[in-house]
Amino acid sequence: MQAVGPRPRSTPCSPIAPLAITVPRNFPPPPIRIGDLVVDPPILQAPMAGYTNAAFRQIVRQYGGAGLLATEMVNARGFVWLDEHTAEHPDRLWGVADEPRPLAVQIWDNDPETMAKVGRRLAQEYRVSVVDINFGCPVRQVTERAHSGSYLLRDPARMHAIISRLVEACAPTPVTAKIRLGCSPCTINCDEIARVVEEAGAAALTVHGRTAKDFFSGQANWDRISQIKQHLKRIPLIGNGDLDSADKVVHAFQNYDVDGVMIARAALGRPWLFSQAAAALRGEPIPAEPDLETQRTCMLQHYRLVCDRFGPEKGTVLMRKFACCYAQGKTGARHFRSHVANVVGVDEFLRVVDEYFPRDEPAATAQP
Ligand SMILES: Cc1cc2nc3c(=O)[nH]c(=O)nc-3n(C[C@H](O)[C@H](O)[C@H](O)COP(=O)(O)O)c2cc1C
Repeated sequence: MQAVGPRPRSTPCSPIAPLAITVPRNFPPPPIRIGDLVVDPPILQAPMAGYTNAAFRQIVRQYGGAGLLATEMVNARGFVWLDEHTAEHPDRLWGVADEPRPLAVQIWDNDPETMAKVGRRLAQEYRVSVVDINFGCPVRQVTERAHSGSYLLRDPARMHAIISRLVEACAPTPVTAKIRLGCSPCTINCDEIARVVEEAGAAALTVHGRTAKDFFSGQANWDRISQIKQHLKRIPLIGNGDLDSADKVVHAFQNYDVDGVMIARAALGRPWLFSQAAAALRGEPIPAEPDLETQRTCMLQHYRLVCDRFGPEKGTVLMRKFACCYAQGKTGARHFRSHVANVVGVDEFLRVVDEYFPRDEPAATAQP
């Protein structure tokens, strides 16, 4: 694939300036508008490749609390290829045609025309609520091999071309962009990118507070996300990174200049996290974690949905990682993980869940 744009400018790596003042925000935060779409509450479920499929989204929707759900990232070039070869559309579009709205579909590529072609289909034929562009993926297959995802952060002109072409093709369906702070700690350019994203006609900007080089190391830099707000005139800023509790969501809104927040990893085994965060934003008591029996039932429903789509064999293999997410952080999770990691069929999966999925401690029996 052809290279796009120049290498990042090598500027000396300087520490991030702290905010002069912390901006106290209106609390509770109002809903956000993404084009004509009202996102209420302003808590978004993040796209996650390999995870946020229709089964996961159905479970998230059941618990409620997420104002906008998103698919996994879909490769626009792959979509076009499959279309031209009259093959089935990618598994990553499973559910998209029929499931409830609002729903954002995220696509990636570096070619404005390919992106526009796919965006138009998603907007007009699939009638999705939002078309989101991935400018944040740091994985080599996407960056070095396909010069897409976070690779494009070094080429604001190309980003502008992709966004403006997509906006035109999808209208009136809103187009949004998801970025990282920059390619590396030495080439942070999110302020410039934010201006480009808005100028090109995007309807919202989501920022994961790490650079591509960071992958997932260290902590998301919410001060740096917050500073981007002053560069946006019209569109909402959605902050993302390390939110794993309702309290942290409240803290993010109270301390940083963001209009919305997005949650990814923490919701994988805890799809009820959105409803906990939404209750906290309404000033209500935060609902307790479901008991482990309820969590197990939820996981088994998730398993059924996956098997209905992919069949028992592939469904079981796919579900191993989700099952580990549901067990994560609980007593006995390691033991469960070691057993579920190799299961191959439905009977074995159910037996392992029955035997090893963490259970609530039995209530202490009354002493005579
Ligand atoms: C397994 C996995 C897959 C991901 N896939 C995507 C993706 O398809 N598109 C995207 O924009 N971000 C993707 N991300 C990044 C998340 O959306 C999010 O920005 C990141 O995990 C930080 O948020 P968190 O701290 O709440 O997890 C992925 C992250 C993980 C862990």
